Amino acid sequence: MDSRIGVALLFGGRSAEHEVSISSARAVHDNLDPARYRIVCLFINKAGRWRQVPSPHLDPAVLIRGVFQSFLAWDAPGRGLQPKADIFWPVLHGPYGEDGTIQGLLELADVPYVGAGVLGSAAGMDKAVMKDLFRTHGLPIVPYVAIGEAEWSRSPKNVLRRIRAMAKPPMFVKPANLGSSVGITKVKEWTALGPAIETAFLYDRKALVEQGVEGRELECAVLGNDDPEASPPGEIIPSGEFYDYADKYLDGKTGFVIPAKLPAVVEARVRRLAVEAFRACEGAGLARVDFFLEKGTRRLFVNEINSIPGFTEISMYPKLWAAAGTPFPRLVDRLIELGFERHRAKKRRVDRASR
Ligand SMILES: Nc1ncnc2c1ncn2[C@@H]1O[C@H](COP(=O)(O)OP(=O)(O)O)[C@@H](O)[C@H]1O
Ligand SMILES: [Mg+2]
Repeated sequence: MDSRIGVALLFGGRSAEHEVSISSARAVHDNLDPARYRIVCLFINKAGRWRQVPSPHLDPAVLIRGVFQSFLAWDAPGRGLQPKADIFWPVLHGPYGEDGTIQGLLELADVPYVGAGVLGSAAGMDKAVMKDLFRTHGLPIVPYVAIGEAEWSRSPKNVLRRIRAMAKPPMFVKPANLGSSVGITKVKEWTALGPAIETAFLYDRKALVEQGVEGRELECAVLGNDDPEASPPGEIIPSGEFYDYADKYLDGKTGFVIPAKLPAVVEARVRRLAVEAFRACEGAGLARVDFFLEKGTRRLFVNEINSIPGFTEISMYPKLWAAAGTPFPRLVDRLIELGFERHRAKKRRVDRASR
């Protein structure tokens, strides 16, 4: 009998961050102690179909071959995928992974899993909802306007008036639901605003226009459930105009400073705000909270929360914890414990309620 804990890694997925997810899954896989864990690898292809594979290290050309199945029992009665695992770990970034959809499936299956639940995942994925939550909780955010596609096509003039009352170039225009900087434009003059909004609507029916902040980009790692802890922050130094898709995944010229060089009061404030942002968005397990520190004024703004941050060997999240004294293998142990803890707490409540 194998008494090890069965950990199912879910990776790949339908989003633009498919490849990053594979890299993250490889790093998680390599840092799980084989004496303690039995790893089950569930690869999800870009069409959203699943296949159990021996390892995330398979060549991508091999990964995509073979028989894929639907995870929905009603698609394949009696033939659905039946992974034997004690806990599931969605190592998926972006839509259909980080947004509460997979988490909903895992809730329905009533299995323990790593990371935020349905609401926390969904709230962190929608930049408009996330900002509303930040604002409700008194967190500092940049001025922004959320626009619906229908509103934009009906009365662009009204929308532009609302934007003019709130921001001026440079501004950032983004689709509400995406990641990896896809669909994001830095608008440096008013004439570029309309096309930037159109671009954002290619990706989502909701878009955001934000006041641009000139300054430093800081990232802080949060770990825990009810009593989350924040790591010392790190700093991102984008190679181009902003931290865009190419900078994140193609050029690899981004600078990382870990830990960031900051006055003690600023560092303490970032860490406190990171925990507050985590709580505001119903975080669980892990999240990375990103900030802007404005040049000159030293004002701090919360930019966003990522409930499944990049998890490769060189990603900010594990690096921040390693620098804080929790090396990668300890971090994965802790995240698994936190997943079990949440599931146990829920079970206890159900038992109590039904007594
Ligand atoms: N309001 C802003 N001011 C300055 N830079 C911004 C602003 N919004 C976004 N950016 C730049 O664009 C990048 C991506 O935006 P972000 O909102 O983090 O989207 P994503 O979810 O795709 O990472 C940021 O890392 C930053 O470099
Ligand atoms: Mg970001």
